[in-house]
Amino acid sequence: MPLILAILLLPLFLLSPASGNKYTVGDEQGWNPGVNYTVWVDKHRPFHVGDWLVFYYQSGMADIVQVDETAYDKCDASHPISNYSKGRSFAFELNQTKPYYFICSYGYCYQGMKVSVLAHPLPPPSPPPSGDHSAARSVAGSPFFAFAASAIAVLGLFF
Ligand SMILES: *[C@@H]1O[C@H](CO)[C@@H](O)[C@H](O)[C@H]1NC(C)=O
Ligand SMILES: *[C@@H]1O[C@H](CO)[C@@H](O)[C@H](O)[C@H]1NC(C)=O
Ligand SMILES: *[C@@H]1O[C@H](CO)[C@@H](O)[C@H](O)[C@H]1NC(C)=O
Repeated sequence: MPLILAILLLPLFLLSPASGNKYTVGDEQGWNPGVNYTVWVDKHRPFHVGDWLVFYYQSGMADIVQVDETAYDKCDASHPISNYSKGRSFAFELNQTKPYYFICSYGYCYQGMKVSVLAHPLPPPSPPPSGDHSAARSVAGSPFFAFAASAIAVLGLFF
């Protein structure tokens, strides 16, 4: 069923580049103890506003607690900004330009089960291919243009 959904939704993602990228936290290792998330972040950054972090974990074995920087450094989940532990996955949209901090409150944070990403502003739309003018010039100088021009000239002789 999820596969069918993915296939159905795939064209939507392909058609809407503005919807942001989806990053599976920890890649195939998921959200689990013993994964170095600093390495994961270094591999995937930069992250941008509109990107999604998707956490996959074993049901009942982990939670995702969003905290501030101080709490992140201390693995302190006592004053969460938000927390999530239901089911087996959690998707979070980076919807502001700022750093985000997530920890697991089940005791694994001290061994590194924490992740912090900085959401950068959206990159500016890619500039139009440079030199529309030079493209026009190269058409004008092309053999096709020369052929078309002479064809028109020849037609002009008849009309
Ligand atoms: C998560 O949130 C619920 C409800 O807001 C709260 O009862 C619980 O203590 C929180 N857990 C953690 C680890 O912050
Ligand atoms: C940003 O995301 C949070 C949590 O996903 C949500 O509660 C909030 O409404 C969102 N803000 C905007 C401006 O979309
Ligand atoms: C993660 O890997 C980085 C780079 O190899 C290393 O500096 C850091 O200490 C590691 N963190 C943990 C929690 O093992």
